[in-house]
Amino acid sequence: MQVLVAVSSRHGGTRELGDQVAQALAARGHEVDQIEPDDVEHVHRYDAVVLGTSVYVGRAGLDLKDLVERQGALLRDRPVWLFWSGPATDEPARVGTPEDVEQVAREVRATATRVFGGRVQPEALSITERSLVALVPVEPGDHRDLSAAYAWGEEIASALT
Ligand SMILES: Cc1cc2nc3c(=O)[nH]c(=O)nc-3n(C[C@H](O)[C@H](O)[C@H](O)COP(=O)(O)O)c2cc1C
Repeated sequence: MQVLVAVSSRHGGTRELGDQVAQALAARGHEVDQIEPDDVEHVHRYDAVVLGTSVYVGRAGLDLKDLVERQGALLRDRPVWLFWSGPATDEPARVGTPEDVEQVAREVRATATRVFGGRVQPEALSITERSLVALVPVEPGDHRDLSAAYAWGEEIASALT
């Protein structure tokens, strides 16, 4: 099957989770295109879609939300898996899904929504981001489980075949 993977990522951590999902899908024989949300045009070409986003101060990426606004009808018409990354914990599944992400899930009628831990590299943050850190329970470190992302990609691959 033809699968689109589009991930909103400011500092690359969420993109690498998307890379794992894409690799798992490709290893199971699916044709995968990884495209930046802003560059996605031809959703009609795909049998299924994986969307991902980092979350900053409770918000999903604007580029992802723009994509959903532009291509909502086509996305609703095919299976969409949605993931988000953010929580600074090794048990991200215990963290509630932000309302903004829930809204994206509703708009695309997501088959499933999955959370992965996040990665915060203080030296990579912009001045604005540094000033926002005090508002959210964010800690430096890498809480991403890349093998869990790969395994999730395998689950999606199985669901598609
Ligand atoms: C200023 C700031 C705000 C954040 N807000 C949230 C948040 O509200 N919820 C959350 O789960 N993670 C939050 N995070 C953590 C990021 O979502 C996490 O680091 C994510 O993995 C970053 O992905 P990226 O490298 O793709 O940008 C925040 C991080 C920063 C620096």
